[in-house]
Amino acid sequence: MSMQSTDERGQWGSKIGFILAASGSAVGLGNIWRFPYMTGENGGAAFVFIYLVCVLLIGLPLLINELALGRASGKNPVGAFKATMPGTPFVFTGVLCVILCFVVLSYYSVIAGWTIGYAISSVMGKQLVFSDFVATPKYILPLLAVFLVLTALIVQAGVQKGIERAAKILMPLLLVFVLVIIARSLTLPGAMAGVSYYLKPDFSKINGDVVLAALGQAFFSLSVGWGLMITYGSYMPKNQNMVSGGVWVAFMDTIVAILGGFMVFPAVFAFGMSPDAGPSLTFQTLPAVFEKMPAGGIVATIFFLLLSIAALTSSISMLEVPVSYILDEKKASRSTAAWIVAGFAFLVGIPSALSAGGSKFFTEMQLFGKTGFMDIVDFGFGTVLVVVISLLCSVYVGWVWKPQAAVKEISGGAPSFSGEGRFNLASIWSFFVKYVCPIVITYVLFKTFFPSAG
Ligand code: PHE
Repeated sequence: MSMQSTDERGQWGSKIGFILAASGSAVGLGNIWRFPYMTGENGGAAFVFIYLVCVLLIGLPLLINELALGRASGKNPVGAFKATMPGTPFVFTGVLCVILCFVVLSYYSVIAGWTIGYAISSVMGKQLVFSDFVATPKYILPLLAVFLVLTALIVQAGVQKGIERAAKILMPLLLVFVLVIIARSLTLPGAMAGVSYYLKPDFSKINGDVVLAALGQAFFSLSVGWGLMITYGSYMPKNQNMVSGGVWVAFMDTIVAILGGFMVFPAVFAFGMSPDAGPSLTFQTLPAVFEKMPAGGIVATIFFLLLSIAALTSSISMLEVPVSYILDEKKASRSTAAWIVAGFAFLVGIPSALSAGGSKFFTEMQLFGKTGFMDIVDFGFGTVLVVVISLLCSVYVGWVWKPQAAVKEISGGAPSFSGEGRFNLASIWSFFVKYVCPIVITYVLFKTFFPSAG
């Protein structure tokens, strides 16, 4: 039985396969759509600097934390808490991970559907009016369905034959497209104004909110706090080095985010547009920019294809979390699980799809100071719940499962992690997981709910 379930669960075929798949999860709309507009809103290079600090000091230790939990247990997030320390209430953290990935998949796929719509219309040489396009259910709902079908097709093919193979094809393609767009953007007359905006820090803009935004962005972008790295860690052979693997993933994710800024800002400035348009920067400002540049139709097509690819390698990972749960705990087949979860994600995605104008009710509803179904769900799940889960994971490993147990797992494949000396990597990492991460995250959560306090 165990042979069969290992086959059905799957394993990465190679280290590079893991790195590409996990980077595929990390590199997504968060890097190319969210990161540039957040940078534009929050003080340019100063934000980038704070972001880098968050990735290095909080994101990376927690990424390795999740990988260790996953590999030690060989299970989905729920199973991982059960297997490493049976009978603690922390299993609930695993349940939250599964719910979170499912819910975010439902609205992430809506935005991904928009990118496909833009790619198709660029090929046809048509210019979309953003607000009309996203408010038209007869375009948006089929695009959502198409995107979820693509996602399910890859996931049902398995870890190695589906996810890993897709990442090996799509990630190099993505990088080539990124470089093509940067080359075009940087060679436009007037591009340097964008570069200097992007690289010149304005530290006067840094305040608590900016730090919070940077930390939230780090969790979103690194795919940390979703149980995703637990799941991907569970497919990792015991002799693979998860420290260097994790560093590679964080590095790739950061590089693509920074390159995202080099795609966007030079072009935006070259045509005298404003860099702080917020979430519509990608869908409104950039198409207007593309329209004005030579060979803009081709550039627009490549750009939106690139966004669709980035979204696809992320959505497959979001789908994989509930699928791995069903596979481990409910013993269904991989393909049944993939299609059922994707089907439900479509249904749950409908209100999000209708919340950009398609339905007055979903567009105008309000909660937590956010307007519209998608924004409300994004805040509740994609922002707050991720941070809560990260806190629970670091407390669990730091204080319940204990860093020693994790260090033992991490050192398999990375012996130098717990090498000689008092200040080896393992002791620094343990200190972060036990103290630094929980304290910083608690503080950030507190500030989210009580912005005016302390
Ligand atoms: N990291 C992805 C992005 O940057 C989003 C994501 C989060 C994907 C969690 C999978 C799991 O867009």
